Amino acid sequence: MRQTDRSRQLFETARRLIPGGVNSPVRAFGAVGGQPVFIQRGEGAYLYDVDGNQYIDYVLSWGPLILGHADPSVTEALAQAAAAGTSYGAPSELEIELARMIMEFMPGIEMIRFVNSGTEATMSALRLARAFTGRTQIVKFDGCYHGHADMLLVKAGSGVATLGLPDSPGVPPGAVRDTLVAGYNNLESVQKLFQAQSEQIAAVIVEPVAGNMGVVAPVSGFLEGLRELTAREGALLIFDEVMTGFRVAPGGAQGLYNVTPDLTTLGKVIGGGLPVGAYGGKVEIMGMVAPAGPMYQAGTLSGNPLAMTAGIQTLKQLRDEAIWQRMEADLITLTEGLGALARERGIPLQLAQVGTMFCAFFAEELPLDWEGVKTCDTERFASYFREMLSHGIYLAPSQFEAGFISAAHRDREVQATLQAARGALESIKNSAA
Ligand SMILES: Cc1ncc(COP(=O)(O)O)c(C=O)c1O
Repeated sequence: MRQTDRSRQLFETARRLIPGGVNSPVRAFGAVGGQPVFIQRGEGAYLYDVDGNQYIDYVLSWGPLILGHADPSVTEALAQAAAAGTSYGAPSELEIELARMIMEFMPGIEMIRFVNSGTEATMSALRLARAFTGRTQIVKFDGCYHGHADMLLVKAGSGVATLGLPDSPGVPPGAVRDTLVAGYNNLESVQKLFQAQSEQIAAVIVEPVAGNMGVVAPVSGFLEGLRELTAREGALLIFDEVMTGFRVAPGGAQGLYNVTPDLTTLGKVIGGGLPVGAYGGKVEIMGMVAPAGPMYQAGTLSGNPLAMTAGIQTLKQLRDEAIWQRMEADLITLTEGLGALARERGIPLQLAQVGTMFCAFFAEELPLDWEGVKTCDTERFASYFREMLSHGIYLAPSQFEAGFISAAHRDREVQATLQAARGALESIKNSAA
């Protein structure tokens, strides 16, 4: 058993000072029992805690660190950028450079605005959709998470579901009155909403690969159907690619499935581990954003030079096709290996993988929507999580979260992970017997 005394002490102190001891709920390990480990540093594929334990990290700061921790190209550029000042409150050339790079990967984005988080990006994109269409209602999907803005805290997947809160107190009924909820991968449920609310729906917002109820890929025709339906009905289609952008493929889900939304929201990887979000799309729509147009949206630290620098250095490396091929190949080795280990032991485990995102569902069938995800055996997941952690594998502490691989993970790490999984699954099998 690993020593975690220092983490325990810190958690006790943190709980007195910070709600639940953490600054984002799922970090508290609430769904899996046990206590969080406090991290001292990260390097490549590894995290090191304050008690000196080493972990192979599949959380990667919840997605952003696609090059791994402390990638030298990023940290060196950051040191130089910091020496030139940490924030200007005035435009810099770095913003143009990152904007151009993103557009090179995602040609559907013709104009972009940088913000500081994914939450800000989706909030702003929805305000823009309402301003552009002159309509008020929005459609989201059961199990999709788009950040913690009031209007989006309905049926919001992972974090909220993990806590067992269907909604959050403090969200006034008025804030969600115009939020309609459809079933993921269920085009008919969206059609019905449009039939009932014709000419009132401003936008449909979707995670084009859902990553906040594990990983659930779109069934064939779902995204294409949303594209067709919204275009016909005069509503905007928003792809929330905060997680999938630069994760499922270089051009995000819109590149992978060849469906171009009207607006895209981004975050995570484009900030290379620093706080960044963005929203962008067609010029005719983005031209409404202040000061080009009347829709107000602003930010003291938006386009921050350090954040832009980390994003630029990260995206530069992602131009290399070979990196993508290697990450995907390694992840397939991992997921296929996990599947085989579970099958040998008669444990129902369904593996989902899209690009560099994955999830191991303790379920009889691969889930296609939130109803399917809810059938997972979360107790089994919790045992698996704790066993893996004790063997030095850091997974997301919830059955409903996506896992990620980075360019710093190599076959050595994948094999070590499979070795740990062999022990973890064996112990689950024995405890069930
Ligand atoms: C798809 C999606 N949208 C939006 C957000 C919110 O981003 P942030 O946590 O940066 O506010 C997240 C966060 O995980 C996300 O996964």
